[in-house]
Amino acid sequence: RCSRDQMIIDAGQKHFGAVVCKSCGMIYTAASPEDEAQHVQHHERFLEGLRYVGWKKERVVAEFWDGKIVLILPADPKYAVKKAEDVREIVDNELGFKQVALSCPAKTKTYLFVSNEKMIVGCLVAESIKQAFRVLAEPVAAQSPGQDPLQQQHRAWRCSTQPEPAVCGVSRIWVFGLARRKGVARRMVDVVRSTFMYGSYLSTEEIAFSDPTPDGKLFATKYCQT
Ligand code: ACO
Ligand code: ZN
Repeated sequence: RCSRDQMIIDAGQKHFGAVVCKSCGMIYTAASPEDEAQHVQHHERFLEGLRYVGWKKERVVAEFWDGKIVLILPADPKYAVKKAEDVREIVDNELGFKQVALSCPAKTKTYLFVSNEKMIVGCLVAESIKQAFRVLAEPVAAQSPGQDPLQQQHRAWRCSTQPEPAVCGVSRIWVFGLARRKGVARRMVDVVRSTFMYGSYLSTEEIAFSDPTPDGKLFATKYCQT
């Protein structure tokens, strides 16, 4: 899970002038024409994949001043399911997931946050689960001298060995780079809590975030406190 951040650090050291595109996430050397051309290509393909055309019977589960949340279920028409899969692939790629299979595709619910500009700026994949293991507070590790503080952030989380009952597992949550810190993730989780299980509003205890990244952990910690 740390490979992508690690790559940024390495790239920064090996190629002077490497930059990370805040919208498509690609690392490239601005001074190199080949790199720039490759970036433009990747950038356009990335944005194209996030374009939302929509369909007649889309399931809008929430509307906001800056967009809406659309829910896609496994039994939906092929084109809807295909869009959910395509977006998940983009997200997995950015998260560094390599072919992480869904535990049960027939029970997967995909929530897409679509901006007024018809772009998918958020994606949340939720699955039915029965139990989860709590992430334990990290022990205050003694900072070993000379250790990169960036690497320290990436210590493996400790999990309890005692399973706790849960209902909904968030296997992916992602927000477009330029749309972060505007409450998109928060609103997607709120909507999951009210729509995942018919007729009940899930508590934060009943929702589990699987294998969170550092960003995901910061978000989940904050979300579950409030
Ligand atoms: N650092 C510190 N606090 C954060 C961060 C962060 N990077 N992200 C969110 N928070 C906290 C803040 O307190 C924030 O409130 P504030 O902005 O008023 O301070 C609160 O959480 C709510 O944040 P949102 O705006 O709702 O979160 P956002 O829409 O930016 O999405 C997300 C958060 C999904 C983690 C985003 O940063 C992202 O896509 N990151 C890259 C992909 C990723 O790592 N996803 C998590 C994978 S783990 C998993 O999928 C189970
Ligand atoms: Zn880009």
